[in-house]
Amino acid sequence: MSKLLLLSLVLWASCSPGNTEAALVALSQPRVRCHASRYPVAVDCSWTPLQTPNSTRAVTFIATYRLGMATQQQSQSCLQRTPQASQCTIPHVHLFSTVPYMLNVTAVHPGGTSSSLLAFVAERIIKPDPPEGVRLRTEGRRLQVLWHPPASWPFPEIFSLKYRLRYRRRGASHFRQVGPIEATTFTLRNAKPQAKYCIQVSAQDLTDYGKPSDWSFPGQVERAPQQP
Ligand SMILES: *[C@@H]1O[C@H](CO)[C@@H](O)[C@H](O)[C@H]1NC(C)=O
Ligand SMILES: *[C@@H]1O[C@H](CO)[C@@H](O)[C@H](O)[C@H]1NC(C)=O
Repeated sequence: MSKLLLLSLVLWASCSPGNTEAALVALSQPRVRCHASRYPVAVDCSWTPLQTPNSTRAVTFIATYRLGMATQQQSQSCLQRTPQASQCTIPHVHLFSTVPYMLNVTAVHPGGTSSSLLAFVAERIIKPDPPEGVRLRTEGRRLQVLWHPPASWPFPEIFSLKYRLRYRRRGASHFRQVGPIEATTFTLRNAKPQAKYCIQVSAQDLTDYGKPSDWSFPGQVERAPQQP
């Protein structure tokens, strides 16, 4: 036996988890991400297999979760529309759990199976969708911005959101930011009457859990009500 082969066998033995299948299929583990844009109704997870196996047979996925690391805990299914779907939903989030969720996504393909585990705490992965219906009303030098909470955020009265605005006059190179504010309106008092503004709003959980949303679509100038 050549020295090189011996060396690689030793390395292989010390890195291998003990079964060849796990080592082989580790190449195509699904990459899993979860986010809670409709906290506390559900957590939504999605994944992409790192490599699509060269096969005509579709890859299917088994997605399960449990609360806590203990393996004797009962696993529940993370709900998928079809076994081929690359997303699933954990319904009814357990609020402020002291143990993390453990999600197990197993790709089943002709060459074998490969599992990815993801641990997360629901409150840390909160990320609302952007606010909606951002609109601008001008009145002389006052520019009022109004918006709605994201429709996907189920209980804005209980799990309040706070907002940040960023605005930029056309031609300006930098945005200015205001906030956080809890209202769904804000008035810029020294707007230039004829200038055009790009104004966007972002939402975040009031108590700072998780991340702010992406920026909304730019606010549109509201048309004056039509006169009959
Ligand atoms: C698998 O890959 C080979 C070479 O990359 C290609 O010629 C072949 O058509 C592929 N087979 C399928 C079923 O996609
Ligand atoms: C993940 O799920 C697969 C398929 O249900 C199962 O075989 C595997 O043991 C699970 N892994 C863990 C760590 O729970």
